[in-house]
Amino acid sequence: MIEKINHLKEKIETYNISNSEMLENYRLKFLSKKGELTELFDAFKLISGAEKKHIGQQLNNVRQEIENKFNEAKEKFSTSTKKSNLISDLSLPISAFKIGSSHPITNVKNEILQIFESIGFSVAKGPEIEDDWHNFSALNFPENHPARDMQDTFFIDSTSSEKYALRTHTSSVQVRLMENSKPPIRALMPGRVYRNEAISARSNCFFHQVEGLYIDEAVSFADLKQTLYFFVSQFFGEREIRFRPSYFPFTEPSAEMDIYLGTATEQDYRLTKGTGWLEILGCGMVDPNVLLNCKIDPEKYSGYAFGMGIDRITMLKYGIKDIRQMFENDIKFLEQF
Ligand code: PHE
Repeated sequence: MIEKINHLKEKIETYNISNSEMLENYRLKFLSKKGELTELFDAFKLISGAEKKHIGQQLNNVRQEIENKFNEAKEKFSTSTKKSNLISDLSLPISAFKIGSSHPITNVKNEILQIFESIGFSVAKGPEIEDDWHNFSALNFPENHPARDMQDTFFIDSTSSEKYALRTHTSSVQVRLMENSKPPIRALMPGRVYRNEAISARSNCFFHQVEGLYIDEAVSFADLKQTLYFFVSQFFGEREIRFRPSYFPFTEPSAEMDIYLGTATEQDYRLTKGTGWLEILGCGMVDPNVLLNCKIDPEKYSGYAFGMGIDRITMLKYGIKDIRQMFENDIKFLEQF
């Protein structure tokens, strides 16, 4: 018996496993139910007397050896499968398509929306082709009033009696929102707007605005200031702001808000024309006439509105010098964002 065990030991020690096939042969030959080890254990059952203990130990030792060798080889084998998988991975086609990036205007718009969403504003949208009522009349632009010329409008040829135009501002969405919902209303209105302006590095015939509207009981100018101050601190960092009186037909009082950039760098000096201040938005308290036009009781409710151009803020943020670059679909330009 001992001889047989020693013989098996020798075989194990000299058995060379160098691939998965050999490993399987090894398993069948030594470890399976019909293998040589099982044979020896079967014979062992018939042994009795003083020898049994010693033989049992030897048998267990050889089993241990067989298993160790098997496990070692198995590990090698499994790492080699990983390797071979890797090689077959290399034959997979590489991704041939570049993933696009979001447009800088989209990035800035989303950033602005997020800031206001964090203080309870929702987002509303409206059509880009607007009727006269939503773009002008409801917003307190009197018929034939020169205020309509403030925003050089693209009118649309139409045979119907209703006049249509490409919206000149997203304030038209204010009107739709007020007509269709009850206060409190707290919403942002982002979108593309169109004006028949001379195209230059600083202005285009279309651009993007985000407008905000808050209507509730007892909304004051202080609420407007604080909200805009919060926005500036989140978007630009802590900066001084100032309000200058202005005029819009749909707000009273109206103001323009500037942020202080300073004149330390050449760019800031140029942008602010040497004053350090840059205008970034128009705002004001919603005119009671506008509330009335939208069937909201101005005795009970008041509200503020503000509107800013996303394009200019994007140019400011990324240091883009020419507004037209953003719409030439030049991949080299767009890839940077
Ligand atoms: N609609 C104005 C514009 O396009 C901006 C504005 C919005 C001003 C809301 C006041 C209140 O210039």
